[in-house]
Amino acid sequence: MNQPDIAESTPSAHHQPWWQTAVIYQIYPRSFQDGDGDGTGDLAGIIDRLDYLAGAGGESLGIDAIWISPFYPSPMADFGYDVADYCDVDPIFGDLATFDRLVDAAHRRKIRVVIDYVPNHTSDQHRWFVDSAGGRSNAKRDWYIWRDPKPDGSLPNNWGSPFGGPTWTLDPATGQYFLHQFLPEQPELNWRNPRVEEAMFDVLRFWLDRGVDGFRMDVIGWLLKDAALRDNPANPAAANDLPVNDIYGRQHHVHNEDQDDVHEVLRRMRSVLDEYDDVCAIGELGYTLERWVRYYGEDDELHLPFNFRLMEQPWDAVAIQASVEALEATLPDWAWPSYVLGSHDAPRLASRVGTAQARIAAMLLLTLRGTPTLYQGDELGMENGVIPQARLRDPQGLRLGAARSRDPGRTPMQWDEGPFAGFSTVDPWLPLTSDSESRNVAAQANDPRSMLHLYRTLLGYRSADPALRSGSYETFPGPEGCFAFLRRHPAGDRLVALKIGRAHV
Ligand code: NOJ
Repeated sequence: MNQPDIAESTPSAHHQPWWQTAVIYQIYPRSFQDGDGDGTGDLAGIIDRLDYLAGAGGESLGIDAIWISPFYPSPMADFGYDVADYCDVDPIFGDLATFDRLVDAAHRRKIRVVIDYVPNHTSDQHRWFVDSAGGRSNAKRDWYIWRDPKPDGSLPNNWGSPFGGPTWTLDPATGQYFLHQFLPEQPELNWRNPRVEEAMFDVLRFWLDRGVDGFRMDVIGWLLKDAALRDNPANPAAANDLPVNDIYGRQHHVHNEDQDDVHEVLRRMRSVLDEYDDVCAIGELGYTLERWVRYYGEDDELHLPFNFRLMEQPWDAVAIQASVEALEATLPDWAWPSYVLGSHDAPRLASRVGTAQARIAAMLLLTLRGTPTLYQGDELGMENGVIPQARLRDPQGLRLGAARSRDPGRTPMQWDEGPFAGFSTVDPWLPLTSDSESRNVAAQANDPRSMLHLYRTLLGYRSADPALRSGSYETFPGPEGCFAFLRRHPAGDRLVALKIGRAHV
């Protein structure tokens, strides 16, 4: 595979691995670009739009890496996070040959390719689960987590799913329940079985051999559960207006995730990645700072645990500053921070903080010390789509109520003012946002006051400026309502001062 010549592309990068100096752009493939006119985005569509992302001089956004959400064969119960085959491409997205072309085309533009790895659960259509469910004595029975009902016939424990309802479904044929912390269509793999670990490590090698540069690891802190599957305690502080079926929201998640022994698995996983050069492991996980920081290990687990804290804070200077300072104080010297302000799981950034503050958010994300991950469309200031009830697709929204739907943040990318915003030639799988005729790449590309122009400018500054890319962080005393910080570097310091808060619009 054609590997990007990073030393040539960023002269000072030899001090730092690529994932420390990169800006990552998240592509949600269903909604990025439809290449074959079926209303759903695909890998060919991504190839067609690579020049937009990087490599075409000043016209390009100027990102360094893409993370592509799942494109594997899937019944799409959770839009690809229910994987039926880890080593292939769903026909809706293309095929392996198209994936190889994508990696080549990206590398030629010096774009690194990070793919989603969904190790906690498969689809119920995966052949491993079909075998496992086939009988108590089947070879793959122990590849998933099966338990007898309690003596009174009730569920094996009290855990709740973030998608609503309990985490256990009874298989009437074998009389046992299987564990699924997400949908019943997403049975949980048994990572305490060494054969599962081995098979899932081979999946990493399969894609590394095809030239990928890293993995974004889905709910990586969930791989191991309490060995005795004990009940979770109730959370007395839970809101009392939660949907009736939100069992998860009413519990402390003590036994179902973030178990101490998961770090042993991650160390072994890291040694698989270390068989290859220059690979990056990014992890999706939350938790308190003290628990979260453990996922770096002793530089032998994840390279970049995602940090979603800026999305979880009230949008004001005091809270944001406190969050950054706490992170900086918690990280060991050698560990590199990461920042995320948007994703396919959250409401749109511009809808959360307002259009004017979305510009400040862009400045914050692209000037802090750490690797930023930017969600597709946020560079246009895209807002939440309005999805009529009949077109709701996200299982979380369908099970827990429209207010919990992730569809509004997943509407198609807006490329131009054409009938389907240049995304497709037919009505897309989710409706476009109402302002797609005015808010799109074509309309913003040459407007110096546009959000897109701002992102391009900031990305240009960041890639050209050693202090912004790799300088140290120091809080700078600023006036009320302002978060100011210094990025210090021998080549020259930078002072960033941002008025953060809904009052500053
Ligand atoms: C996190 C993913 O980002 C989300 O979209 C998915 O529904 C869950 N993990 C389950 O895989």
